Amino acid sequence: MRVLLTSEQLSAGIARLAAEVAADVAPGPLTVVGVLTGSIVLVSDLIRRLEGPVRLSMVWASSYRDGATTPGRLDLRLDLLPDLGGHDVLLVDDIFDTGRTLEALMAELRGRDAARVRSLVLLRKAGRAEVAIEPDFVGFDIPDVFVVGYGLDHDGAWRHLPHVAALEPADIHDKRPPHVDPAPIDPDAGPRP
Ligand code: XMP
Repeated sequence: MRVLLTSEQLSAGIARLAAEVAADVAPGPLTVVGVLTGSIVLVSDLIRRLEGPVRLSMVWASSYRDGATTPGRLDLRLDLLPDLGGHDVLLVDDIFDTGRTLEALMAELRGRDAARVRSLVLLRKAGRAEVAIEPDFVGFDIPDVFVVGYGLDHDGAWRHLPHVAALEPADIHDKRPPHVDPAPIDPDAGPRP
């Protein structure tokens, strides 16, 4: 794996994003809507940098299946959303790749009578957009590589990394989650030391 963004760079980027959001949103409560699961680390760091009343909610979106690194069908689950009527809303996602997830979620949130809906992503991949919209706030522009860490996963692994790393082909073929003991279990053996 090749580190693209260190935890120090991420931390500085979140501070900049929080300042941009603060300069843009109206004073008063802000409803932050995070997109599970990839945005959890970003959301938790971002909201602690925001001043003023923040209401937090999460939605779920998935467009990747079975460890594939190419997008598939988009599934959305919005049942945890509170009433957004009249609220200032900030949709927060991990990465803007084709943009289809953000486009679909923005349409859903805009249909709920919010006063204003803005969008923020940590990462935007170069040359991949398939939609006309752009996120309002972008942490970092990155090349067209598959990335993991800081909430982003491949096949459920590597979300816990404190940095963002580009996945190399060898990492993709190794499906084992990190820290798993590869030794087979012998049922006749006694307890392990
Ligand atoms: P779209 O194409 O709809 O994709 O903009 C957004 C969602 O796809 C996932 N995604 C990635 N996840 N590394 C990941 O771990 C990547 O490089 C990557 N590219 C896209 C992610 O869930 C994002 O919300």
